[in-house]
Amino acid sequence: MEIRMADLATGSAPAGGKVANTALFFRRWLANPLQMGSIIPSSRALCERVARNVERAPDEYVLELGAGTGVVSKALLDHGVPPEKLIVVEIVPDMAEHLRSVLPGVNVVCGDAFALKDTIPQEWQGRIGTAICGIPLVMLPFEQQKRFVDAVESVAPGKGFLLFTYCITSPLPYRKLGLTAKRLEWTPLNFPPASVWRYRPAG
Ligand SMILES: C[S@@+](CC[C@H](N)C(=O)[O-])C[C@H]1O[C@@H](n2cnc3c(N)ncnc32)[C@H](O)[C@@H]1O
Repeated sequence: MEIRMADLATGSAPAGGKVANTALFFRRWLANPLQMGSIIPSSRALCERVARNVERAPDEYVLELGAGTGVVSKALLDHGVPPEKLIVVEIVPDMAEHLRSVLPGVNVVCGDAFALKDTIPQEWQGRIGTAICGIPLVMLPFEQQKRFVDAVESVAPGKGFLLFTYCITSPLPYRKLGLTAKRLEWTPLNFPPASVWRYRPAG
């Protein structure tokens, strides 16, 4: 793979300009490093790789969990997801407020991605084409990972989710969680280098 210096300069920088709000992101990392999982927002290269793997029928929603300051959300919009078909869930109120200000027309929900049945309105449930996870699941105990998998299944049955991660191998024990796993993407143009995985319910 050829890596150009210009790409290293731009592609690996946090995506999204005004959206990224690196200062807010860093402040939240200082406050709760485990919940954030990263010091800075994802790079443009990584956001692009997530967005290009979205599958969605015209009437379906995209559900982004752990949207942070909105860099992946911005890439999804740039890839043609209509704002009214994008649902972003973020647990930190300051960040949800930021998301509302930089993502006009997007459905921003301040709430817990591990309790999606209660977090998102019923009218969106069962109408989700792709769920995307930005939450650092790898650091959680198995029971919490299972809770997350079940939460996604409860609102997007059979769809599974995309997960981006800094791990080289699968960040989830997918067989034990009843999932299949496929690594779709890898990019060195992120800090740290990152992969995009797709998990689906097995069988
Ligand atoms: C690694 S950051 C990813 C942010 C952004 N998607 C990006 O790529 O730059 C993880 C985000 O997940 C949020 N988060 C953590 N636990 C969550 C939960 N249970 N429900 C919703 N959001 C959560 C954090 O507040 C943080 O904004």
